[in-house]
Amino acid sequence: MRFIESWTPATLVATRDLTPSIREFLIKPENFDGAAYPVGSHINIAVTIDGRPEARSYSLVGEADRTGYRIAVRRAEDSRGGSQYMWSLAPGARLTITLPASLLPIDWARRHYCLIAAGIGITPLIGAAQALARRDADFTLHYAVTSREQAVYLDVLAPLLNERLIVHAGNEGRRLNLDDLFASLPPDALTLLCGPIRMLDAARRAWTGAGRALSDLRYETFGSSGSLPTEGFRVRLADQAIEIEIPRDRSLLDVLNGAGYEVISDCRRGECGVCAIDLVKIDGELDHRDVFFSEQQKHANEKICACVSRARGTITVDILHRPDAL
Ligand code: FES
Repeated sequence: MRFIESWTPATLVATRDLTPSIREFLIKPENFDGAAYPVGSHINIAVTIDGRPEARSYSLVGEADRTGYRIAVRRAEDSRGGSQYMWSLAPGARLTITLPASLLPIDWARRHYCLIAAGIGITPLIGAAQALARRDADFTLHYAVTSREQAVYLDVLAPLLNERLIVHAGNEGRRLNLDDLFASLPPDALTLLCGPIRMLDAARRAWTGAGRALSDLRYETFGSSGSLPTEGFRVRLADQAIEIEIPRDRSLLDVLNGAGYEVISDCRRGECGVCAIDLVKIDGELDHRDVFFSEQQKHANEKICACVSRARGTITVDILHRPDAL
């Protein structure tokens, strides 16, 4: 593993509904000392889905405070079950969580920053906005939502950022135009972005189209959104008469590992590429949900990140499985 995960017992202290579909959870681990954590940090939470133990990542909202770790979870019917588990919890529930870790490093030496969030993707950027505001950095936070009623934490962000906060509410006709935005940024600007996979793909296209270095575009994803609805699909193993069903609430990675076909993994969020396996054939459609492969690689359909990507129909993969190695 790239990160050594240290699991610790914790208690769900309180919940608060931010909108009818977004709930905030305040979680306090045992021996909590309120120590600062890096901007963009997330915690993993052990969840139970259909009786199976799994883990889900959630970004921490805002900078550290003494009350505990704050996350916000959107209840998504089209999810892999983590949000429904979280929403089933009541204050006092016992949890097991990992300590905060960040996959969204910020280069604090830049003079200009741009923060872009869509929907629940605002969560990792609140702490970034607080840190940049404290440094009096030159930045703007663009927050894209379907309607202003869907925007959360405006009570924190609006007084902190004033005109540095721009809410792009779709129902107000104020859509975010990434091409125009990136064209307007100073050359040394660093952009941090968190949103659904389609937005990340569009941002990467617009960013490189603007002649900018991809290393100056940093992004977060949880691998839970794709271009197709989340549904079950089938996977065949090349050179073997085996076909396996991947249910809508389980990943290809978990099902293959559960069936004894070892596929190694690391981030389990579609970011590192460690779980990539070879694609041999697609009878249906592929839904790449990772941010590891480039657009060209995704079009080539030669590999799939088993931790997050999905399909419609049946795919054939080669996991280099040797039956006598089991
Ligand atoms: S484990 Fe990192 S992309 Fe799948």
